[in-house]
Amino acid sequence: MHGKLEGKVALVSGSGRGIGRAIALKLASEGARLVVNDLDAGPAEDTAAAIRAAGGQALVCAGSVTAPDFGERFVGAAVDAYQGLDIIVNNAGYTWDGVIQKMSDEQWYAILDCHLTAPFRILRAAQPRIRALTRAEADAGRRVVRKVVNVSSVAGLFGNAGQANYSVAKAGITGMTMTLAKEWGRLNVTVNCVAFGLIHTRLTASTADAGGQARIDGRDIRLGVNPELMAAMERSIPLGRAGTAEEAAGAVYLLCLPESDYISGQTLMCSGGLTGI
Ligand SMILES: NC(=O)c1ccc[n+]([C@@H]2O[C@H](COP(=O)([O-])OP(=O)(O)OC[C@H]3O[C@@H](n4cnc5c(N)ncnc54)[C@H](O)[C@@H]3O)[C@@H](O)[C@H]2O)c1
Repeated sequence: MHGKLEGKVALVSGSGRGIGRAIALKLASEGARLVVNDLDAGPAEDTAAAIRAAGGQALVCAGSVTAPDFGERFVGAAVDAYQGLDIIVNNAGYTWDGVIQKMSDEQWYAILDCHLTAPFRILRAAQPRIRALTRAEADAGRRVVRKVVNVSSVAGLFGNAGQANYSVAKAGITGMTMTLAKEWGRLNVTVNCVAFGLIHTRLTASTADAGGQARIDGRDIRLGVNPELMAAMERSIPLGRAGTAEEAAGAVYLLCLPESDYISGQTLMCSGGLTGI
């Protein structure tokens, strides 16, 4: 498939639904070969099938990003199948909210595991592979720029009541982004973050609708946002509405393009103009 990312190998965690799926479809539509991940094979296979139906290439690496061996498995799947590793998007995630006095240790660590420890392990597993590829390219007189895009949230930048666990994890990923931008600059890897505001997905679906429950890492997690709160949040967005998954994917795509090769260590807000909550 031709496009701006032709031949690139891209890994997107949590790409069976929502923003991750839109990112995978966008990158594939520009020629990237995808490794699709989600908790269960079903949604991941759906995304991979949509990519293939559009003429792209995709394989599935199913399972929870929180499994200790997941990083090695995810990165290994890309290198084994495609002999490359160019773009890593750490997107998988969910919320498990509660005010601090009611937040259990389990709730705290579950969210840190998913949004912070999992990206850490994926990026740690990727480093030796990227280093080997970079060395081989240097020996061949070539310079290839690789991309990491971590997904954060306005909750991580400004805080959000009821989200001590999530806002800490999403703030932490911006710190990891800045650090890896410094560690990996010499490997020609740009490392950036996109902090989303309010995006319409299952995560932010109205709790008035059915189906706001997901089985994640052996727990039943209630998802969704109270409709009145949602309406109030939408009113506070300068563009006057929540974003779509495709609009969210566009922000990640910008940081995967060759045109962004000299941008690293940054957090881009994709929030319809919202600059605080
Ligand atoms: N929707 C928003 O308004 C919003 C705002 C800020 C940040 N975000 C972030 O964007 C990312 C994507 O969220 P979304 O809105 O698309 O939600 P979503 O629920 O539509 O999609 C998230 C996907 O991640 C998967 N997932 C969750 N835990 C996983 C795990 N442990 N291992 C593998 N896959 C897992 C889910 O199964 C799901 O398919 C998340 O990191 C979220 O925190 C979303």
